[in-house]
Amino acid sequence: MSSVRIGYGEDAHRLEAGRELWLGGLKVPDAPVGAVAHSDGDAVLHAVADALLSGLALGDIGQYFPDTDPAHAGLDSRVILRRCLELVQERGYLPQNVALVVTLDRPKLGPLRQQIAQSVAALLALDEGAVGVSFKTSEGLAPAHVQVRVTVLLAAHD
Ligand code: C5P
Ligand code: MG
Repeated sequence: MSSVRIGYGEDAHRLEAGRELWLGGLKVPDAPVGAVAHSDGDAVLHAVADALLSGLALGDIGQYFPDTDPAHAGLDSRVILRRCLELVQERGYLPQNVALVVTLDRPKLGPLRQQIAQSVAALLALDEGAVGVSFKTSEGLAPAHVQVRVTVLLAAHD
């Protein structure tokens, strides 16, 4: 198997008023809408976790944390990400850098860019500079929707 592998992950959640909006392990303050989800609905952490798994062809998070299992209701997505990181490490690989894109019309996330990068980096034991965070609006095409796309580079460790 190659010593470097690329992983790609996506996640989306529907947004509704009166719900919390979690992104990258952070609760977005004063968000007018939040994710409708079985877990905490953190689409960033779900997409990063799927990217880790996909890089080693390990399937996706639904296989490890089925959303039909009542035990996973309200699950902290950091638990999901930590487990996926372990699965990668057990196979001899470590993430090197992450590039993530969040598509969300509101609220504006620019002020949270550094905190989200720091949070995701800490969960993956990476430097903050190894996590690139971009934000896009949907230009009003999907106002009740958050979409996240993530690539990750994995490398074999000693
Ligand atoms: O998608 P668009 O090109 O219109 O985004 C313009 C700017 O708005 C970008 O610089 C992006 O970082 C920022 N943005 C943001 N929060 C969002 C969506 C976009 O800060 N939820
Ligand atoms: Mg999700």
